[in-house]
Amino acid sequence: MSSSHTETKISLDALRPPRVREDAHIGSHAAQDLVSSDGSGVDRRVFVDPEIYQLEQQKIFAKCWLYVGHESELPDRGSFLSTTMAEDPVFVVRDKEGQLRAFLNSCTHRGAKVCRADSGSANSFKCPYHGWTFNTEGALISVPRLGTVYGDCFDRHQHGLREVPNVDSFGGMIFASWDPAAPTLKEYLGDMTFYLELMLSRMEGGTEVVGGVHKWTIDVNWKIPAENFAGDHYHVPSTHGAGVDMGYRSPLSNDGYCIHTGNGHSIGTERGGAQKGDAVRTDYDGFLAEMRAQLVAKYGAAAEDFVPIGVGTIFPNMSFMDTARFRTFRVWHPRGPGKIEIHSWCVVDKALPDELKAATRQTYSLAFGPSGIFEQDDGDIWQSVQDSMKGYVGRQGRLNYEMGLGREMPTSERYGSAFPGSTSDMLMTEANQRAFYRHYASLMTDAKK
Ligand code: FES
Ligand SMILES: [Fe+2]
Repeated sequence: MSSSHTETKISLDALRPPRVREDAHIGSHAAQDLVSSDGSGVDRRVFVDPEIYQLEQQKIFAKCWLYVGHESELPDRGSFLSTTMAEDPVFVVRDKEGQLRAFLNSCTHRGAKVCRADSGSANSFKCPYHGWTFNTEGALISVPRLGTVYGDCFDRHQHGLREVPNVDSFGGMIFASWDPAAPTLKEYLGDMTFYLELMLSRMEGGTEVVGGVHKWTIDVNWKIPAENFAGDHYHVPSTHGAGVDMGYRSPLSNDGYCIHTGNGHSIGTERGGAQKGDAVRTDYDGFLAEMRAQLVAKYGAAAEDFVPIGVGTIFPNMSFMDTARFRTFRVWHPRGPGKIEIHSWCVVDKALPDELKAATRQTYSLAFGPSGIFEQDDGDIWQSVQDSMKGYVGRQGRLNYEMGLGREMPTSERYGSAFPGSTSDMLMTEANQRAFYRHYASLMTDAKK
């Protein structure tokens, strides 16, 4: 009989920062803090413990705004796509008035998925189990043999699909939240909107997805890639050393920024943008130079550093990478404490010439598609992180996020008053990860609603 369940049981008190950590020793049954008050130490159990994972579903994924798609994927009335919000299957549809809606993809009769396709166009959704049919507003519009099998007692108006109460978009990015009391999307994104606008509104017409969505699974907790994309530049020379040697990427200096803007959101990049090695060269360089000049004219010389914008994470599980060669959006959908399903897209500026769209898409696939050289590097390491923490001993102790402690300042001090958030005086810092985990802890303990 296993006793590990009792030994690792966490009470909510254990999540509550700040508390002084008592040194745990292997085999200790004592509860300890999971995230230190400054975010510089994170208990390994937050990456493996099933109870903590379940709590995340309630405290984080049922509360936060989650990325569910891009407006360019839903161009017309009736356009739909299916995805998930954490583990809950949903589909997003443009209804007959053109409004974006999202529904739990579960029939109100016996729960079957009513939308079975990844994407497409439809006026209605017929459940394949017994044939109940719903329209794009989620209303139940048809029940086979209604009068015969249900008689008068059945009210189909009571059986519409469960609708996600909040759906909104910013710069083409569509988010949804299950929380009826959620702040507006703009409030949720807060100061991150400034940096998102720099990335998404560089050209007239905004952005679009090209080439559909890549989906694959790997064995890692969702927070490991989310915190990596929050601005882990320190890993590049080591994890991606081969890509640097082959000329797919320039060597990394310590010159650049990491910025966090509140609510766990952050961005970071080396100066001039990553992925600018010589192995793949396209005219995208010229396009970026043009964009840089426009932003400098608007925000001053400091803006030069923000084209491309770099990597970033919108808390909790949406990340992006805007480089000197391509741009990708991705979502780390949790599939249990030790598994994620990655959804990844290549995103381009709509007004970009077709040949550059094709070139950036190709470069994206080569670098960060499911078999991309950098994606493979990261995926392999991330799975080893997870693997090393799943055992009885491996799940004990803390991971370290102390890099750059005490070197933070308001971003405005470094870049000027237009630039919000907090930054550091160097690229390699774990300030963004600390901000991510502080926010994580505040939600898990209800310190912040
Ligand atoms: S489960 Fe959908 S009609 Fe029965
Ligand atoms: Fe990486």
